[in-house]
Amino acid sequence: MSGGTGAAPTATAVRARAPAKINLALHVGPRRADGYHDVATVYQAIDLYDEVLAETRADGLVSVQTSDLNGNPVAGVADDRTHLAVRAAHALRTRAGVGAGVHLRVRKQIPVAGGMAGGSADAAAALVACARLWGLPNEPAGLAELAAGLGSDVPFALLGGTALGTGRGERVAALPTGPPATWVLVTSSSGLSTPSVYAETDRYRAEHTVPAPQVDERLLRALSAGDLRLVAGSMRNELQDAAQVLRPELTDLIAAGSWAGALAGLVTGSGPSVALLVDDDVRATTVAAAVGPVARRLLPGAQVRTAHGPAPGAHLVGTPEPAANEITPRP
Ligand code: C5P
Repeated sequence: MSGGTGAAPTATAVRARAPAKINLALHVGPRRADGYHDVATVYQAIDLYDEVLAETRADGLVSVQTSDLNGNPVAGVADDRTHLAVRAAHALRTRAGVGAGVHLRVRKQIPVAGGMAGGSADAAAALVACARLWGLPNEPAGLAELAAGLGSDVPFALLGGTALGTGRGERVAALPTGPPATWVLVTSSSGLSTPSVYAETDRYRAEHTVPAPQVDERLLRALSAGDLRLVAGSMRNELQDAAQVLRPELTDLIAAGSWAGALAGLVTGSGPSVALLVDDDVRATTVAAAVGPVARRLLPGAQVRTAHGPAPGAHLVGTPEPAANEITPRP
C-alpha cells in the first residue's frame, strides 16, 4: 500500500458492511506461550451484517459512534480508541501514511460478545470503507495482513464465504462454500467473554494431553459434496462445553432446537449465541416459533432470527455484492 499525506480522497463518505460468522467446527489446541490457542476452525459467514459509514473529518481525527438499527446506543460497546473499527482506521492510516481523519458510524446488528465476531466485522468493514475513502489501492492481501493484527477473526470477516481458519484463527483459506445453509440464531443481550471461555476450556482439560487441533475430514467432504445433512452431522465446537458450564441454559436451548426439528445445533464460537441448522426457510419458521418462548425464558434479552450462509465478506455497499468466496486471500 502506498501514498503519502497527499493521497487524494475519492469520496467524502463511503459505506461498507461485513458479516457475522458461525463456526461449523472449532477445534482448540493447548494454550500457547502468548496466551492464544491454536485452532482449526471452519468458518461460515452469514447474512447478518454490521455496517460502517466512513465520513471524512477535516481535522484529521478518528472518531466513532455506534448504534443499533433504531439509532440507539449499544450496550457493551465503548466509542473510544479501543473500538475495533477505530483501531482498524488507525492501523490503515499508519500503514498507508495517510493523514486524513474519519468519523465512523457503526450500525450494529451482530450481537456484542455473542461469539459471532461482531467486533471483527466492524474492523473489517472499517478497513474496506476507509481504504476506499482515502483512495488507497484495492489490495485484499494488504488488508488481510492488517486484519490479522487487529484480531483473530478479522481476516475471515474480510474474506467471507466458508473457510478454514488455522493459527489462532487468523490464517484463512477459502473452502468449497458447501450447501446453502439456513440457520435459526438464538442470541442473548448478555454476552460471554471469549478469554473466560478459553480459560474454562483450559481448566477442565488441565489433566489431559490436548492434541493439535484438526478439522474432521467428514465435514470437509460434506462441504465438497454440498450435503447438508452430513454437514449437520459433522459439526463440532470444542468451546461448547465450557460455554455450557458458564451458561447452563444453553444445553436446554440446543435440546429445544433439536426437538423442534433442527438438523443440528451448536454454540457459535465462544457463545452464547446458538446456531440451529435447519432444512429450509419453512422449517426455520417452525423451529423459531417453538424455540422463541424457551429462549426468552432461559436467556436475558433473547432474540431469535433466521439467517443464511454462506455470505460474502466485507464489501462496499452500493456496488454489486461479491459472491461468497469470490475474494480469495493471497499468501
Ligand atoms: O484475537 P482476539 O482479540 O479476538 O482474541 C480475544 C481473546 O480470546 C484473546 O485474548 C484470547 O484470550 C482468546 N483467544 C484464544 N485463542 C484464540 C483466539 C482467541 O485464546 N485462537
